[in-house]
Amino acid sequence: MERRVWSSFVMISLALATVLSGSPAAAEEVEKVLTLDHSNFSDTVSKLSFIVVEFYAPWCGHCKALAPEYEKAASILSSHEPPVVLAKVDANDEANRELANEYQVQGFPTIKILRNGGKIIHEYKGPREADGIVDYLKKQVGPASAEIKSAEDAASLIDEKKIFIVGVFPKFSGEEFENFTALAEKLRSDYDFGHTLDAKLIPRGESVSKPTLRLLKPFDEVFVDSEDFEISALEKFIEESAIPTVTVWDSDPINHPYLNKFFQGPSDKAMLFVNFSKDYDAFRQKYKDVASLYKEKGISFLFGDVDSTQNAFQYFGLEIEQAPLLIIQKDNGEKYLKANIEPDQIASWVKEYLDGLVKPHIRSEPIPEVNNEPVKVVVRDSLQDFVFNSGKNVLLEFYAPWCGHCKRLAPILDEVAISFENDPDVIIAKFDATANDVPRDTFDVQGFPTVYFRSASGNLLRYDGDRTKEDIISFIQKNQDKPAQSTSTKPESAKSESINADTLKDEL
Ligand SMILES: *[C@@H]1O[C@H](CO)[C@@H](O)[C@H](O)[C@H]1NC(C)=O
Ligand SMILES: *[C@@H]1O[C@H](CO)[C@@H](O)[C@H](O)[C@H]1NC(C)=O
Ligand SMILES: *[C@@H]1O[C@H](CO)[C@@H](O)[C@H](O)[C@H]1NC(C)=O
Repeated sequence: MERRVWSSFVMISLALATVLSGSPAAAEEVEKVLTLDHSNFSDTVSKLSFIVVEFYAPWCGHCKALAPEYEKAASILSSHEPPVVLAKVDANDEANRELANEYQVQGFPTIKILRNGGKIIHEYKGPREADGIVDYLKKQVGPASAEIKSAEDAASLIDEKKIFIVGVFPKFSGEEFENFTALAEKLRSDYDFGHTLDAKLIPRGESVSKPTLRLLKPFDEVFVDSEDFEISALEKFIEESAIPTVTVWDSDPINHPYLNKFFQGPSDKAMLFVNFSKDYDAFRQKYKDVASLYKEKGISFLFGDVDSTQNAFQYFGLEIEQAPLLIIQKDNGEKYLKANIEPDQIASWVKEYLDGLVKPHIRSEPIPEVNNEPVKVVVRDSLQDFVFNSGKNVLLEFYAPWCGHCKRLAPILDEVAISFENDPDVIIAKFDATANDVPRDTFDVQGFPTVYFRSASGNLLRYDGDRTKEDIISFIQKNQDKPAQSTSTKPESAKSESINADTLKDEL
C-alpha cells in the first residue's frame, strides 16, 4: 500500500519533468490511437499478436499530458512492420469498469502490452514522450533477446549508461539457453537482453568460458556474472544486481529508472536528503559505506538532492531547513528521522536504528483549542479520543489541503454535519493527512479524500458511495448504532476498494 503511494508520487515528479520539457504534438486529422470499449475489446485484442492499451480517465492530468505523445507514437508506429497498434479505453466509463478491473487498473494512466491475442500481458514501463514510446515499443515487438553477432551489433545494443543483460553460450540450445530465453521473455518490459556465441564481443568478455549471464550496469561494480541458470535464482540475481547500492535522486534522468525500482522494492528505505551543490562530497562516500554494510540487511538506500526532491519533503511534511536529513521508512509506513545530520553521524545513527534505540516519528498538528465548526477537526494526537474512545458514530474524512475533490466535498460535509446537529451520537470530522500521520495499520489511505465511518460499537467501514449529502446521510443512518450496541456488520476489507472510489480521487 505504502509502495503504491510512493511510486505514484515519484511517477508524478518524473512525469512533470517530461511535461515541462515536452513539446506539443501537431494536431492529427485522423486518430491513429484505436478507441476500444467493453463491446469490442476482446474481439480486437484476440486478432492481434501485439497491442498496447492505455486505460485512462478523462479527468486525469497525466493522461491528458500523455495523449498527444501517445497519438504521435501511434502515428509513427502505424507504418512499422510488424504492426504496432496503440489503443485506449476510457476506464472511467461505468460500462468499461469490469474490463478495467480484469486488467487490475488502479491508477491512471495504466498501460498494458498484450501479446498473442491477449494471452500474455506485460506492464508498459517505458517513457511517456513520443520518441521514447516508439523506441521502447520497437524493442518490445521484436524478439525478447537480440543476437550479438558482431562488434557493430554490440555497439548498437549496449548503452553504457543503461543496464544490459547478455547471455554467453557455446550454442543456442540446451537448458541454460532455454532458461535464459524464458526469463528474457518474462522480464523484457524491464530490461534489454542480448545473447552471443562470442564472449569477446561484450565488454570485458575475454574471461568468460562457460554459459554465463552477464549484467552490465552503469554503477557500482559495472558488471556481475551468474553461472546459475535455474530460473528463479537467475531472476533474483537480476533483480538484486539491477539496484544500485545507493539510488540517486537528482535532476539527471539517467537516475530515474532506478527510482521506481527503489520505491517499489520490498525493503525498508533509508533516504538521505542533502543539498548536492553544497554537501554532495561530504556525504557521498560515508553514506555509500553505510549502504554497503547494511544493504544485505533489508534496507535500501537513496541519496537525494534537496533541489529535486521537494515532493518528498511535502510528502513527509518536512522542511528543507531540516536537511541534511536522514529518514528511514519501514514497509509498514513507520518513519524514523534524524534532521541536520552530519556525515560522521550516519553510521552510528543507522546502527542505533537497527538496535531499536530510535523512536518512530509520529507527526501531529497541535490539538485545536477551539473546535466548534460543524465538521470537527481531528489531529493525530486526538484521533484515539475522538474516534476510538468516544463511543460515538464518527464519519472521518482524510483530506489534503491541495486536493480539488476534497474542496468540493467540504461544503457537502458541512451540510451533513448540520443535519446531524441534534444527534449527539454522530460526529462528522476531518483529518489533514498531509500534516498528521495516518495510522496505516487501521486506515488504508491511498488518495484523497478517503472517508471512513466508525460506528459507536466499533465497526469500521470505508465510505465508497457517491459524494452527495443524501447518500452520505443515508449511509450514516444505515450504519450508525447507539452506544454499546453491537451489530454483525463486518469491517470492510481494505483491499476491496472498487474502481469507483479510485476514479474519484485526486492523484497523489
Ligand atoms: C469500439 O466501440 C466504440 C463504441 O461503439 C467505438 O467508438 C470504437 O470505434 C470501436 N472500436 C473499434 C476498433 O471498433
Ligand atoms: C532451468 O530451469 C529449470 C526450472 O527452474 C531448472 O529445473 C533447471 O535446472 C534449469 N537448468 C539449468 C541448466 O540450470
Ligand atoms: C543549495 O546550495 C546552493 C549553494 O549554496 C544554494 O544556492 C541553494 O539555494 C541551496 N538549495 C536549497 C534548496 O537550499
